[in-house]
Amino acid sequence: MAKFIINGGKVLKGEIDVQKSKNAVLPILAASILTEQKIKLNDCPDILDVDNMLKILVTLGCNVERFGKYVIIDSSPISSDEIPSKLAKELRSSIFLLGPILARLKKAKVAYPGGCDIGIRPIDIHIKGLKALNVNVKEEHGYIICDASNMKGADMLLDFPSVGATENIMMAATGAKGKTIIRNAAKEPEISDLQNFLVSCGVNVSGAGTGTIIVEGCGSIHGTEYTPIPDRIAAGTYILAALITRGNLTINNVVPEHITSLISKLTESSCKVQVFNDKITINNSKRIKAFEIIETMPYPGFPTDLQAPMSALCCVADGTSIILENMFETRFKHVSELVKMGAKIIVRDKAAYITGVRRLHGADVKAYDLRGGAALILAGLSADGTTAIDDIYHIERGYQRIENVISSLGGEIFRVR
Ligand code: EPZ
Repeated sequence: MAKFIINGGKVLKGEIDVQKSKNAVLPILAASILTEQKIKLNDCPDILDVDNMLKILVTLGCNVERFGKYVIIDSSPISSDEIPSKLAKELRSSIFLLGPILARLKKAKVAYPGGCDIGIRPIDIHIKGLKALNVNVKEEHGYIICDASNMKGADMLLDFPSVGATENIMMAATGAKGKTIIRNAAKEPEISDLQNFLVSCGVNVSGAGTGTIIVEGCGSIHGTEYTPIPDRIAAGTYILAALITRGNLTINNVVPEHITSLISKLTESSCKVQVFNDKITINNSKRIKAFEIIETMPYPGFPTDLQAPMSALCCVADGTSIILENMFETRFKHVSELVKMGAKIIVRDKAAYITGVRRLHGADVKAYDLRGGAALILAGLSADGTTAIDDIYHIERGYQRIENVISSLGGEIFRVR
């Protein structure tokens, strides 16, 4: 299994462009099957989750071609409405292919997506939303079998502003007769990006970002060329990497408002963060103060996907920080690995109490999930000595050549087989 080897203690300095958003691209790739015409997706990140989503589209019968930075999807030959178990388990977000397959083919058979390292990952809100659209849903032998031959628009309220469920229902609703109103919808920027993509394909959809989304179904949907938004979580991760090494960093081509919650937390802790219209500069050569409390919330609250990278920074902050993980049941698997590096962390239920130490020390550790793995990279960059991180495929699911980005800033990180 490939590993990252990190020699800690180097100060990160310089400028980077950040990759496009994994969590915008995945639903957009799913939405590409809504039209028989070609979709050209620019700057598609070269990460494992995208590779797996493209594999699933090919399994459905689509033609997929990657030309360096862009991908062309032609779903006109689509021939299957079934997502096999192996692929569904590999990629949790395959569940939001359900909506587009139903809109396009009116029936679907999708294997139950596995829970994953961060929680049970139920799909009850997805299913409830599809049933509200008059989709007949059966769950048999680990498969979800849907009949959408008579899908009708509906006015619904989500029990929780689930990102994936909002996206799934938006896409399904494009194939439902009449108007659909999705209330208590997720407000994440990736939802707005999916809406902008759908609008560029001719779909009549509005309200993303406000909590109430309206879709007029059964309009004609044509091909498009689209460039997704920057990855706000990757941007936040690199900002935290620079901070933990007491360096300075400018990130170009980002949308600062997408990480306002991180910026305000860092500012509270006297980190100097300069925000321009499409770039962010941080410059911090001293030990940062601990954060009184960080609570993960739906957008625009503090993102759960930055909880682990932030906990790494808290490990070397001056004082005790409290992190409450409100979104997922088991998203503290990185804590045991940080403790191996000398971190002082106590976890009780959904809270992590982190008492900052002056220095962490290198150790042999393991990535258990995508963002937890990123946290270990940050800890390794700031630690004395060498850190070896195993199971880095978790990290490569979502960060495009992270070792190259960090090396370009002066970090010593190597990928070894
Ligand atoms: C998306 O996951 C993201 N993934 C996650 O990013 C992100 O952490 C999450 O949204 C929250 O922002 C993609 O976009 C591909 P949810 P999703 O449905 O859609 C509960 C990363 O690291 N829930 O908003 O699965 C669920 O258990 C990944 O990039 C139900 O109870 O998240 C969780 O507690 C990890 N029933 C909460 O809602 C449902 O039917 C939020 O989940 C659906 C969700």
